[in-house]
Amino acid sequence: MRFTVGGLILLAAITIAPASPFDDNWPVPREASERVNPLTTESPFAKKARLLYNDSCAICHGDRGDGRGPEAEQLGTRPADFTSSAVMIPMSDGELFYKISKGRNPMPAFEGKYSENERWGLVLYLRHFLKAPPSKKK
Ligand code: HEC
Repeated sequence: MRFTVGGLILLAAITIAPASPFDDNWPVPREASERVNPLTTESPFAKKARLLYNDSCAICHGDRGDGRGPEAEQLGTRPADFTSSAVMIPMSDGELFYKISKGRNPMPAFEGKYSENERWGLVLYLRHFLKAPPSKKK
C-alpha cells in the first residue's frame, strides 16, 4: 500500500514537472535525412517561404526563429531554436524537411498543408536564421 502511495506521488511529480527541455532525440530514417534540397535560394518557393513561416511557424518558433513564439510557453516541449548552431549545423536539409513534413506532438505535420516545394522552401528559410541576430532575452 505504502508503495502505491509513493508511486502516486511520483506520478504527480512527473505530471506537474515544468516543460521538458528541448529534446533533440527525434529519429529520422536515413533515407529521409540523405535527401538533398532541390531548390536554391533563387527559387520562388524560397521567397514565398517567409510568408508561410510567418503564417504557420512563428506562433511557436518565433518570428526570429529563436523558439520564443507567443505559444511557446504553453507547450509541453520547447520549440526548436533555429538560431542555434548546435541545433542547426548537425541537421541535414533532409532531416529538416522530414520533421516539417511529419511534425511531432505538439508540432503539427505540414505534409498535408504545404507542397513538397513549399516545404523545401521552408528548409531554406530556416537556414537563414542562424545568420540573423537573436532576439533579446526577456
Ligand atoms: C504548435 C507549435 C508549433 C508550430 C505551429 C510549429 N512547430 Fe516546429 N516544433 C515545435 C516543437 C514543440 C518542436 C520540438 C518537438 C520535439 O522535439 O518533439 C518543434 C520542432 C521543429 C523542428 C525540429 C527541430 C529539431 O531540432 O529537431 C523543425 C525543423 C520545425 N519544428 C519546423 C517547423 C516549421 C517549418 C513550422 C511551420 C511550417 C513549424 N515547425 C511549426 C512546435 C511547433
